[in-house]
Amino acid sequence: MDKLSILGNGPLEGRIPISGAKNSALKLQAASLLCEEPLVLTSMPNLADTRFMADLLRNLGVEVEWPKGEALCRMHAANITSTIAPYDLVRKMRATFNVLGPLLARVGHATVSLPGGCAIGARPVDLHLKAFEAMGADIVIEEGYVKAAALRGLRGAHINFPFVSVGATEHAMLAAVLAHGETILENAAAEPEISDLANCLNACGAKITGHGTSTIRIQGVAKLTGARHDVIADRIEAGTFAIAAAAAGGNVFLEGARAEDLGALIDALRRAGVTVEVESKGLRIKRNGGGLVAVDVDTRPHPGFPTDLQAQFMALMSIAEGTSTIRENIFENRFMHAPELSRLGANITVRGNEAIVKGVPKLKGAPVMATDLRASVSLVIAALVAEGETTVNRIYHLDRGFERLEEKLGRCGAKITRSGDSARSSGR
Ligand code: UD1
Repeated sequence: MDKLSILGNGPLEGRIPISGAKNSALKLQAASLLCEEPLVLTSMPNLADTRFMADLLRNLGVEVEWPKGEALCRMHAANITSTIAPYDLVRKMRATFNVLGPLLARVGHATVSLPGGCAIGARPVDLHLKAFEAMGADIVIEEGYVKAAALRGLRGAHINFPFVSVGATEHAMLAAVLAHGETILENAAAEPEISDLANCLNACGAKITGHGTSTIRIQGVAKLTGARHDVIADRIEAGTFAIAAAAAGGNVFLEGARAEDLGALIDALRRAGVTVEVESKGLRIKRNGGGLVAVDVDTRPHPGFPTDLQAQFMALMSIAEGTSTIRENIFENRFMHAPELSRLGANITVRGNEAIVKGVPKLKGAPVMATDLRASVSLVIAALVAEGETTVNRIYHLDRGFERLEEKLGRCGAKITRSGDSARSSGR
């Protein structure tokens, strides 16, 4: 199994290009099932998760052309040959569950295993299924599989989500685009990835308005064509590198990062004493000499502070002056990085959904274990500022969501090396 060895060694200096967003790309890939003509995605992130989704699509009959290492992926769902997504494929990655809605809308039935994914607490899909039922689908759950049918097609519905769910909003949108009549989604998620999906679907002929607000209207159309669409820049990757630069100090330009998607983080970084400059082509993060001060954060749906940056921010706060409270409101079990950060010398007490972080003057390298995707990268950030060497084990989590992480950080001066099977086979 691969691991990363990181030597804490001072400031980061340089430029980091931001990749296309994983969380957007996966839903855009699922959208290809709705399109009768090719959907071409550019700025596709080359990640274990997006490659895995491509394999699932091939299994369903989609022609996928995506040469290794390339950022352009062409998907053509001229003939869907299977409507079954088996357990083995869905358990490894939760987003694969999102093929259910498109298959149901396009073919009229689908059988998809209930999802697995990151171990960050119970992650139900009841809101997704309720939305399909409201659109007239018959749903049965048998032996871990969701069997859904709408043989005469889905019909538009008025759906008021009891709370904000990114997954359910996207999934309902993916089904409603081909339903008869209008669907209204209220209390919808407003994450930038939702707008990216809506913009791509609209380019294929869908009629979606209101995305980016809490009320989305979708006028069903008979069919979708295809389009060429550029995947939105990954705000979580950009935010992660911003936090890394804030922690290590120095001057890093995040090329392609979109300030409008990162308001809550930019605000928290500035309050912590970090300089964030918004430039026309990205964001510049600077911290030269000045210390960091403790800041409280509360995770919330967009435009609030993203749950996907909570672990990384905790790593930053572990070396800030003072005490910060970090409250996780989206997932109930998302503090697994706290004990690992403590192994590096951080002083963190977890009480329910709150972590109290007392800043320490320095961290010290140690072997640690990656537990989930965002937790893993928080350990990398802590390791960049820790004295001595840290080894992060089980980094397959990292490879699910960060493209060429060690190369991007390495170019800015970080001392970070990979060892293990894939490092040997790819010469990394
Ligand atoms: C969530 C995050 C998203 C992040 C992703 C991966 C929010 C609002 N969502 O999206 O930003 O990128 O994790 O870490 O920040 N829920 C139900 N029933 C459902 C669906 C969801 O009870 O059918 C609950 C979840 O357990 C969770 C909350 O709703 O407590 C929000 O979940 P949701 O936004 O759907 O999760 P993801 O789409 O995975």
